[in-house]
Amino acid sequence: MGNNNKKIAFSGIQPSGDLTIGNYLGALKNWVAIQDDFESYYCVVDLHALTVRQDPKELRLRTLKNLAIYIASGLDPKKNTLFIQSHVPAHSEATWLLNCFCYIGELSRMTQYKDKSQKIGESVSAGLFTYPVLMAADILLYNTDVVPVGVDQKQHIELARDLAVRFNNLYSPTFTIPEPYIADTGAKIMDLQEPEKKMSKSADNPNAYILILDPPNTIKKKISRAVTDDIGVVRYSEDQPGVSNLISILSTVTHMTPKDIEKKYEGMGYAQLKADVTDALVEELSPVQKTVKELLEDKTYLESIYKNSADKANYVANKTLRKMQRKLGLIPR
Ligand code: AMP
Ligand code: TRP
Repeated sequence: MGNNNKKIAFSGIQPSGDLTIGNYLGALKNWVAIQDDFESYYCVVDLHALTVRQDPKELRLRTLKNLAIYIASGLDPKKNTLFIQSHVPAHSEATWLLNCFCYIGELSRMTQYKDKSQKIGESVSAGLFTYPVLMAADILLYNTDVVPVGVDQKQHIELARDLAVRFNNLYSPTFTIPEPYIADTGAKIMDLQEPEKKMSKSADNPNAYILILDPPNTIKKKISRAVTDDIGVVRYSEDQPGVSNLISILSTVTHMTPKDIEKKYEGMGYAQLKADVTDALVEELSPVQKTVKELLEDKTYLESIYKNSADKANYVANKTLRKMQRKLGLIPR
């Protein structure tokens, strides 16, 4: 529980690529929806991005751009603590401590690690392996009650819970046990070219994803090229993954249920559905894009947000870190 008796929410997105509508619909939109109900911390997790090679200049730009996207998507910097992960050293320090309580077996079972390491092969870094421990530190340092994420992050949150329980049992109650918070729609937006896969900012083919900052004609082009099927019926079902994904996107943006969408498009082909998905996305994203552009022209404002937020985040995170250190037997300075 935070100040004002509100529960605490924490989440983050990696600045490892430009943000997609998967990040927007699966994460950001939910963060905005709950901002009055929780005391919230939202972080640009730049240290997580380092688990794969980044161009330093690009990483700097993207970190700021992502912060601007958080604000432009509707997160009020007065209501939420919007900060940059590397500005709070306690995250790295707590990671080491938690590393000493995490089993190699647990980390080896993480699906995201298995997928990514298979792709990378020999040169997979130790950072990629221990990445979920850094994520656990992020979450546990803030006494987080809920973690709003897309469904792909559920396994990582379960590990954070296991580590919290393990530490609490070995010492004494230290951490709040966090719960994942996953919305009914938008929790898994699929790849437009291979709709059996999650939409990801790191896909090789740019037609596979739509970026939050894609201009209207790019959105139109990518949606028109989205893979469907030759069944020709607008139906939300497992054997029509491409069409179902378009329905999910439309449903999350317009708040119509998939059932209502099926009814609306009865007897119509995919062209009308695609045109309407395009319009809905353009309408949703245009104001966000305009605000991002304005914010990026005002670096002083962005700086004031991340500096003030880092002060607050450091204060809270250090309190938990000191508690951990004390319980483990490290001598206070
Ligand atoms: P990442 O891009 O991996 O840093 O993910 C940041 C947040 O966006 C996490 O909460 C993810 O679960 C969410 N997310 C990423 N891709 C998708 C997707 N395709 N559909 C829904 N949520 C997603
Ligand atoms: N690992 C998450 C992802 O790739 C990002 C993340 C890092 C995160 N730390 C977090 C999400 C803490 C929620 C809470 O999506």
